[in-house]
Amino acid sequence: MMEGYILEWLSLLGRWVHLVTGIAWIGASFYFVWLDNSLRAPKLDADEKRGVGGEIWSVHGGGFYHAQKYKVAPPELPDTLHWFKWEAYTTWITGMFLISLIYWYQAEIYLIDPSVMVLSKPVAIFLGMLTLALGWIIYDLLCKSSIGKHETKLSIAMLVFVSVVAWGLCQIFGGRGAYLHYGAMLGTIMVANVFFVIMPGQRDLVAAKEQGRAPDPSHGIRAKQRSVHNTFFTLPVLFVMISNHYAFTWGHTYNWLILIVLSVAGALIRVFFVQRHQGKASLVPLVVAAVLIMGVAAAIVPRPSVINAADSHTNTAEVFAEVQGVIQTRCVSCHAAMPSQPGFSAPPQGVVFESAEAIAAQAQSIYQQVVVTKAMPIGNLTQITDDERALIDQWYLMGGKTE
Ligand code: HEC
Repeated sequence: MMEGYILEWLSLLGRWVHLVTGIAWIGASFYFVWLDNSLRAPKLDADEKRGVGGEIWSVHGGGFYHAQKYKVAPPELPDTLHWFKWEAYTTWITGMFLISLIYWYQAEIYLIDPSVMVLSKPVAIFLGMLTLALGWIIYDLLCKSSIGKHETKLSIAMLVFVSVVAWGLCQIFGGRGAYLHYGAMLGTIMVANVFFVIMPGQRDLVAAKEQGRAPDPSHGIRAKQRSVHNTFFTLPVLFVMISNHYAFTWGHTYNWLILIVLSVAGALIRVFFVQRHQGKASLVPLVVAAVLIMGVAAAIVPRPSVINAADSHTNTAEVFAEVQGVIQTRCVSCHAAMPSQPGFSAPPQGVVFESAEAIAAQAQSIYQQVVVTKAMPIGNLTQITDDERALIDQWYLMGGKTE
């Protein structure tokens, strides 16, 4: 009881900080992408002589702002220089805290799904960590390889790589944990880009300025390439971070394909906005993204199953009595006012199935969670059988009443 309650608090606080730092990071990053792409040549010759390459005026919160970007560096470095790195680092640190707390510490609930693959807890956790580490290593090698010199080739290689990861994770973990690890891998790549490439590049720039030598231009080129990647990863990562609320995505048989298609759609939407900042937006990426999203939506419309009239009960009350038995054994250990399942201090999402009326009132969501997405029982901890799922399916099609 107490442990579950503490876990809930840690999860709430961790998520809160993660969300705030994530907003600060992505917000700043979107702002700088916009800024970079919106710059115009400086108006004053004096600015041009000082090495200003572009400038923009904006108005915000009751004040006028005038931002200028130097071609390389200003003649004199200012006393204070803001770096914008802790937003990224704290987002990653709180993200690692959450993944450890939820998906690793409670792996048997949120990560392992024996109907996908039977894994021991240490093996599952190890595979999860390996995904994050290998994701960065492979991505970094791809960027540094000869493929990395051609943007188109690199984009294709990365699409293949992340698609293989999406598919692979869905073959070893439950859908929810698979999605989250895919997103965490992309998020780790984004932060590692900041830590291992962008920041060292900026440090070299500052050091070069202080020592009066010319900065190594390769740093700037690499940093630019990596921040472009980061901007295209953003929307796919954010989709994954909210996906755990939408079991119809990760709970589907083709969850890996849905993940790939929605990632591509997210990246295309970002392509559109970046082009728009540059003033040359084509609607094509946006339209393709919309078609992809609508295509997924149409492809996964839940189809009503057909009941075999011959061997189905005709009496709702009889079927319901069996359904209630199934729910009692497979669901109520968690979905009760006082759950008996270790680690649960309150009914998840407030969902309780302790009376016949409560079950009938929630027929639609029971059907959705147990038959359509198979998201429940979570991690199939209570080992519901296919026959029991079929029984719930049948009861729902009969109207989902108590009698
Ligand atoms: C081991 C604990 C456990 C068992 C057993 C369990 N659930 Fe859940 N259930 C959860 C958790 C945790 C959530 C919240 C999931 C989330 O946060 O996305 C949940 C959420 C739900 C929801 C709300 C989903 C939503 O997004 O609105 C429904 C409905 C549900 N469960 C039905 C069932 C049914 C029906 C069974 C039995 C077949 C069952 N659950 C068995 C843990 C469990």
